[in-house]
Amino acid sequence: MTTPQHQVAFGIDIGGSGIKGAPVDLTTGQFLAERVRIATPQPATPAAVSQTVAQVADAFALDRSVPIGVTFPAVIQHGVALSAANVDPSWIGTNVETVVREATGRPVLAVNDADAAGFAEVEYGAAKGVPGVVLVITLGTGIGSALIVDEVLVPNTELGHLEVDGHDAESRAADSARDREELSWKQWAERLQRYFDVVEKLFSPDLIVVGGGVSKKHEKFLPLLDLRAPIVPAGLLNAAGIVGAASLAAQRR
Ligand code: BGC
Repeated sequence: MTTPQHQVAFGIDIGGSGIKGAPVDLTTGQFLAERVRIATPQPATPAAVSQTVAQVADAFALDRSVPIGVTFPAVIQHGVALSAANVDPSWIGTNVETVVREATGRPVLAVNDADAAGFAEVEYGAAKGVPGVVLVITLGTGIGSALIVDEVLVPNTELGHLEVDGHDAESRAADSARDREELSWKQWAERLQRYFDVVEKLFSPDLIVVGGGVSKKHEKFLPLLDLRAPIVPAGLLNAAGIVGAASLAAQRR
């Protein structure tokens, strides 16, 4: 692990329904104050969302030099959003770092939401010290993925969009599909089983870590899955994205 340049950074999670943030103590990976959540403005354009990110950051009295890591539910390459599966299409081609930096007046790093969670799991959670191939899969509105090889993150894998039985996998196996179709835990677990079978065949992971809001209820569905690799809940549960983004922002040089 590289030593963070800052001991404190903000993590802010930009999601389809809420924008949530907290200052993070990077020596422990814990929130330094209770998380603030503001509903995502609609339409969720870059200008409106970055103003809300500024409101979340300003809710905490921290120096302007404290960096912000923002998670975003899309492919992020060098700060620029290249996809928009569950967000406003006007984000495609937008430099997330530039718009958020201009709105907040702080140094900003942008990262895919699942990659941020994966990074936090390596630094503080269930993937810490695990050699080989680890997949962190987040189950929420979509399915996010982080591929980690010997504790190094390979970004933007987008495994939620694998084609499984002729469908975009997340359209059937995300937590939002469970809600929308009112699936029982058992019915949803059957979809997850199918999804993880395909993922296992392609990547032969040594460990699968499951994150996202529903990871709080892991005992309802993880025991129903039968996989070769061990499958465990995220050590940081749903805080992983915020913590990982903060940590990455602090390490940027
Ligand atoms: C997006 C990913 C994102 C995932 C979880 C998918 O629809 O394509 O970039 O990580 O949802 O939010």
